[in-house]
Order: sequence, then C-alpha cells, then structure tokens
Amino acid sequence: MDKIAVYGASGFTGRLVVAELLRRGVPLVAAGRDGERLRQAAGGRPGAEVRVAGAGDPAALAAAFDGCAAVINCVAPFEEFGEPVLRAAVSVGCHYVDTTGEQTYLKRVFDTFGEPARRRGVTVVPALADDGGPGDLIAHLTAEALGPGADLAVLTVADLRRPGGVSRGTARTALANRRLWGGDGGLHWADGAWRAGTVARTETVPAPGAGAEPEAGELKVTAFALPGIVTVPRHVRARRVEAVMRAEVAPLFGALTEEVVAALPEGPDAGTRAAARWLMAAYATAADGRRAQGSVTGTDGYGLTAVIAVEGALRLVTGEVPPGVLAPAQAFDPADFLTALEPHGVRWSVLTPA
Ligand SMILES: NC(=O)c1ccc[n+]([C@@H]2O[C@H](COP(=O)([O-])OP(=O)(O)OC[C@H]3O[C@@H](n4cnc5c(N)ncnc54)[C@H](OP(=O)(O)O)[C@@H]3O)[C@@H](O)[C@H]2O)c1
Repeated sequence: MDKIAVYGASGFTGRLVVAELLRRGVPLVAAGRDGERLRQAAGGRPGAEVRVAGAGDPAALAAAFDGCAAVINCVAPFEEFGEPVLRAAVSVGCHYVDTTGEQTYLKRVFDTFGEPARRRGVTVVPALADDGGPGDLIAHLTAEALGPGADLAVLTVADLRRPGGVSRGTARTALANRRLWGGDGGLHWADGAWRAGTVARTETVPAPGAGAEPEAGELKVTAFALPGIVTVPRHVRARRVEAVMRAEVAPLFGALTEEVVAALPEGPDAGTRAAARWLMAAYATAADGRRAQGSVTGTDGYGLTAVIAVEGALRLVTGEVPPGVLAPAQAFDPADFLTALEPHGVRWSVLTPA
C-alpha cells in the first residue's frame, strides 16, 4: 500500500492522525520540523518512517513527501505554514487534505492552487476537520432535500457544540488569525460573491434535537468565521450563505490572549474528549419558503478529525476523484462519507419539516 505523509505529525492532531493511519494499517511518513518530537510521536512503530523538514525549506518538504500518495497537513496556524506544505505536496504529485478551519487561508487555496493541482493530476481537499468536513457535507444534503440544484434564499451552517475541549494549537490558530486580520478577517457569501465581514442575519436556529442532551426550541447563535462559507457556495446555489456558532461559545474565541493560550494543555485529555460532543447543523430556506434542516453529531472532535482526514485521504488515493481543489461535498459522495463515519459514533439526519 502507498505511504501517506502526515505533516505536523508531532502536534496534537497530527499524533491522532498517525494513530488512525496505524489503526488502519496504512504505512506513513511522520513529517515535521523537529526530529526528536517526531520520533516520540511515531518513531519505532512498524510502518512509520520519520522525515524532518521545516516549513520554510521547500526542497526538504518535497523530499519528505516524495514517494507518498497523499499528504495530511496538521500544521498550525495554516495562515503561516500551510501553503509551503501544500505547494510541496502538489510539486511531487501527492494528493492533499488538511485540518484547517481558517477562512482566508482556505480561500487562497481555492483561488491559487486549482490550476497547479489539475496540471499535476492531484486532488486537494482542505478543511477536512470536524467542522469543515461534516459542516460542508450536511449543508449539501440539506440543500439537496429541497430538490437538486434548488434555488435557496439562505443556507446557514451552524457549529452548535457546547463550550470546552479546545487544543492549544486551535486556540493559537484562532488568536493568530484575529491578530492578522485585525479582529474580523471573516467572509460571508451574498448575491453570488464572497464579501468581507463575518456577517449573519440568523440570530436563532431551531435546536436539531440531536446531541448528548437533546435540546428543543430555538438556540441563540452568533456569526462566526466557519470554513463552510468558503466551501459551501461551490456546490450549493444560495443567495446568502451564513455561518454561525452557539452564542455562548463564540465570545470565548474573541477572549483568547497569549497568556490564556500558553496556559492551555496541548489538548483535551482522553476523558474530556470522549465526553465532548460536537454538533454541526445546516438550515436551508428555498426562495419559495420551503425549509430543510440537517445535523451531524458525534463525540471527540479531535479524534473524529483524524478519522475524517484519514478517510478523505484514502478516498483520494483509492477513488476516482477529479484533480483540482475541491470542497468535501464536491470530492466525496456526502451521504456515503457521513455513513462511513457511523462506526465511529457519528449520527446524521436531514428533515424537511411540514
Ligand atoms: N477546525 C477544526 O475543526 C480543527 C480540528 C482539529 C485541528 N484543527 C487545526 O489543526 C491544526 C493543528 O492543531 P493542533 O491542536 O494539533 O496544534 P499543535 O498541537 O500546536 O500542532 C501544530 C503542529 O504544527 C507544527 N508547527 C508549528 N509551527 C511550525 C513551524 N514553524 N514549522 C513547521 N511546523 C510547525 C508543530 O510542530 P512541533 O510539534 O515541532 O511544535 C505541530 O506539529 C490547527 O490549525 C487547528 O486549528 C482544526
């Protein structure tokens, strides 16, 4: 079987990706900047090779990925270190997935890597984490429930997880992006174009009735820069695409400081991860007023991110996915992909309320 390279294999998410590849019996290259940390993460495991390559060294990156069928990039933040890894993967003909949730990085990947990826015959599917993957797939299925190619007035992607269980790398990424973009580098989609600003008219959404403690009624939400804003308009026709987060969670990201980030553990421990439920939902309203809503939920967002990224990379290697940069729902059959996650405790549904 072809090897898969994990860049940032020594990080919190990277180590989970390494473990998932080993669990599935996939030979791998653990790549990153620090040989000692990489050896701690993967050294000595049968089927795992360590290759050292700094993000600023294109030749070393290309050598690290040489002979691999795909690269799973788990670096942080992607705004700073994502592109050289992607460029090196494409240059040596590797398919590529990553775990980013960063809108501006994601938009640049779609804007600049499509042609190089097509020329090299490789497929790039960024944002294959527990929000960008399931959020994009359930948005597609929810829109489709109103008819294939339905003309939507609005499609809202909602991250409805409760507070808690964020890794230091995720927090550092959120803080770095806020600093880089001066508070609001977010995007929204309106009238056929991406527009600046994290904007949503949606203030409440119906509780999906899924999750550890199913809720009823309406949930308060706040506009939030989710990756779905960049990916969903590529396969759903909607006048507006909005992204929102549970109202009590969104301000926690805004309150991050260097001190708070430094004090966080590298990642939530196994008990916290097992207890932490994530919940992505989508709400579609057709131009004629018909509505649909979908949700996808599971536990252990970081463990599931590893499962999702590995599943995606293996589908690129073994499947018939066209080359280029694709949203998850363009690269994979959305229902089939979500169903493949069910053995990991993922549950999903789409409803069209009467
Ligand atoms: N959106 C989602 O749902 C979701 C879910 C999971 C993860 N993520 C994203 O995935 C990324 C990883 O998160 P994490 O918690 O695993 O972070 P982490 O533990 O901090 O790991 C970051 C990785 O990046 C590497 N790195 C940092 N600076 C580097 C540099 N200058 N050159 C080369 N490598 C460098 C680190 O190498 P060292 O080990 O040598 O320090 C480490 O391997 C984050 O961007 C996070 O937001 C997103």
